[in-house]
Amino acid sequence: PLLETLTGVSKKERLLQDKLGLAGCHIVPGDSDDQPEVKALMGRLTNQVLLDEMPPGDSIVAVMGGTTMAIVSETLTESVSVDRHLTFVPARGGMGESPAIQANTIAARMALATHGESQPLYLPELTSNATYDTLRYEPMIANTLATIERANVVIHCVGDAVAMAKRRQMPADVVASLEKQHVVGEAFGDFFDASGQIVYRVPKLGLSISDLDAMDLVVAVAGGHTKAAAIDAYFKIPPKATYLITDEGAADMILKK
Ligand code: G3H
Repeated sequence: PLLETLTGVSKKERLLQDKLGLAGCHIVPGDSDDQPEVKALMGRLTNQVLLDEMPPGDSIVAVMGGTTMAIVSETLTESVSVDRHLTFVPARGGMGESPAIQANTIAARMALATHGESQPLYLPELTSNATYDTLRYEPMIANTLATIERANVVIHCVGDAVAMAKRRQMPADVVASLEKQHVVGEAFGDFFDASGQIVYRVPKLGLSISDLDAMDLVVAVAGGHTKAAAIDAYFKIPPKATYLITDEGAADMILKK
């Protein structure tokens, strides 16, 4: 039965890779919406993909926030630093979430786990680009932004749009307008509908989906049946060929469509 399960999973991985146009795909058993321990399994696979695919030498790894990324940060190991020197940075500014799941915290934890370094980006979540245009010249902020611009590896999540808008306490009129436009997903502060059309961009400094084209390696970690529509839509945008690490809860729903 184990072999059957493995064969079944690797078949699904191939199908999902083709359907979403991925560089690679790993599916862990279970559904992270119902079984929190599934996120740790996705974290272990993230460690494996970094080991196998990250180039040797210096890398700047830009990371996003969220509960999935927080668990990934706990499962990385120093083995990924063998023959590599890693610097972790948040992929974008915006500290609107609770500290445990902010990208700054995740970058610092990943640096600790892998014996690498990290650089923080202290920026509030703002509603206007005008304020960012002033803040970007503050030396501490400018310094980290320059490092983010040199990032060659990205690890990120994909979120359910309305859940993210509410968790980040976005203004009620923005949330209402997102719902009206049928947004399904969010990544890098961009909200998109089921066809992969970006309908709203959060004001921010840092990386956007279009910056992924220049990266050596992009890893997306997102699972749970409630994220199936978001994941499916995200890969229509289209981002650079990405390694997706997901679970059966999301994969089965995407493959059924
Ligand atoms: O952009 C995506 C969100 O940060 C995902 O957060 O892992 O808590 O669902 P989550």
